[in-house]
Amino acid sequence: MGVTKAPAIWSVGVVVAAFIVAAQGSPSSSARRPYSLFEDDGLSRRHGQRHYDFVIKESNYTRLCREKTILTVNGEFPGPTIYARKGDVVVVNVFNQGHKNITLHWHGVNQPRSPWWDGPEYITQCPIQPGGNFSYRIIFSEEEGTLWWHAHTAMDRDTVHGAIVIRPRRGTTYPFSKPHREIPIILGEWWNDDIGQVLADAISTGSDFQSSDANTINGQPGDLFACSGNGTFRLPVKHGKTYMIRIINAALTNGFFFAVAGHRLTVVGSDASYTKPFSADHVFIDAGQTVTALLKARRGRSNARHFYMASRPLATNPQATVDSSTATAVLEYVDAPAAPGDAAHGLPSLPAINDSSAAAAFTARLRSLASKGHPADVPRRVDEHMLVTVEVNEIACAPGEVCKGPHGNRFASSLNNVSFEMPRSDVLGAYYRSAVGGVARTDFPDNPPSPFNFTADDLPPELALTARGTRVKVLEYGAVLEVVLQGTTILGGDSHPMHLHGFSFYVVGRGTGNFDKRTDPAKYNLVDPPYQNTVSVPKNGWVAIRLRAENPGVWFMHCHFERHMVWGMETVFIVKNGKGPNAKIMPPPPNMPRC
Ligand code: C2O
Ligand code: CU
Repeated sequence: MGVTKAPAIWSVGVVVAAFIVAAQGSPSSSARRPYSLFEDDGLSRRHGQRHYDFVIKESNYTRLCREKTILTVNGEFPGPTIYARKGDVVVVNVFNQGHKNITLHWHGVNQPRSPWWDGPEYITQCPIQPGGNFSYRIIFSEEEGTLWWHAHTAMDRDTVHGAIVIRPRRGTTYPFSKPHREIPIILGEWWNDDIGQVLADAISTGSDFQSSDANTINGQPGDLFACSGNGTFRLPVKHGKTYMIRIINAALTNGFFFAVAGHRLTVVGSDASYTKPFSADHVFIDAGQTVTALLKARRGRSNARHFYMASRPLATNPQATVDSSTATAVLEYVDAPAAPGDAAHGLPSLPAINDSSAAAAFTARLRSLASKGHPADVPRRVDEHMLVTVEVNEIACAPGEVCKGPHGNRFASSLNNVSFEMPRSDVLGAYYRSAVGGVARTDFPDNPPSPFNFTADDLPPELALTARGTRVKVLEYGAVLEVVLQGTTILGGDSHPMHLHGFSFYVVGRGTGNFDKRTDPAKYNLVDPPYQNTVSVPKNGWVAIRLRAENPGVWFMHCHFERHMVWGMETVFIVKNGKGPNAKIMPPPPNMPRC
């Protein structure tokens, strides 16, 4: 099939790369290469066009003392890093050699006018069946910074994910001095059980999902876990140099705090956009988000050779089943003398697992590079206002069924009390053929069906009930949309990382309790709000986002906690074509997979 990946061109740091390879320990299958961080863009130089071959296949990996079969790209876990420059087009040829349907999504890439290559199954495409293939075009436009890619079928993104590094255009540079090296730090989770089984178990009884068995950093739980010392991710550094760490939360269940012992981080970006730099002891990163930070290695030589990096979840719902474990990795000063018995220093201090205010305090510091003199391009006039409640709910147990969710019902979740039901064939294809009515209703509500005190302590239990529907929202091309995402205390409440495909948006406001449309808009930040694709809606609070609907297509919006998405916390925006050829959806590629 001609899918062998070209060997990396080690432009710099051969020694360091070799070190990493050595430090990864031996993989359980000799045919597999370890996760390689420093492969650069050799492919594009060889072929003129930048492309990657991604073979979806099962592979055996050992973690937590057990071997199991996982789905991977090219046998790698985490998967390969995609390198691009701002404005590039990258082609990824996907060959499905696994045993199940799959799609891939380029999280945070707007894909202007090209929803065909966006990825979510049954929204923009039918999945690629076993034995099939599909070539995605990733069309980078305004994005610059750290993004990632992942499977967008069932729970497959658990192991099918990797980093996307978008560097400045050739001839331009970062808005800070160029770091010595850039390193993806992917925060994830590991289940001892098969992830398909975890999903099937939860669906069969309507119960909560079984929690993961370890949190991970670059695929490894770290040496606080049995049998995990050898594989621990190690980052080699040298005194006096600056490293850019591109932190990605690929986990299915939780946001994370992340810190490095003995070092502060300078945050310079979030999602695919730069932020005003600020220094922090720890970062908070919700599921689906990325944080780009600079880590200044210590200047003076000392004997200290090892420092722990650690991640620990934020879990805001005491009723949910949570993997509260701390994942670790090691920062290693390769130019320090090896001291006898030099174990890693202590763990960095991280906020407590339920410390939502620490998360909120971090999030509040994210500001885009704009200033009063050069404000960000935030739309001032709004055409469409939506208030959307974000709820974890229940759906009545069917007669004769045994349900293990709340009150003997099934767990569900909803937006404006619509629990999204996946259609059987893709919304985009139907819409393009002017037949959207065959798969969805275009009446997603702009407001909750009946307003209530969203964040009251004692909501009546009936409010927890929801119903399924495939209901989408249609927007005129160019309309300015403001969405207030409102958390609720139904079933206790939780935080929710809400992700929108096709756009980045300005996060103009956030608060606790109920959004007040008379007083809260006056407090919006219209000068330097962060520009993100995934926003953390605080537990029992709200956020307001704004965007211009200038990307025609069919775009998914959903909670990036996988169980909430499986339960229905999502909807779809259809942005109509505008006038003129540059405001219309491109025609579909000829080889779209069929349902
Ligand atoms: Cu990161 Cu719809 O996904
Ligand atoms: Cu959620």
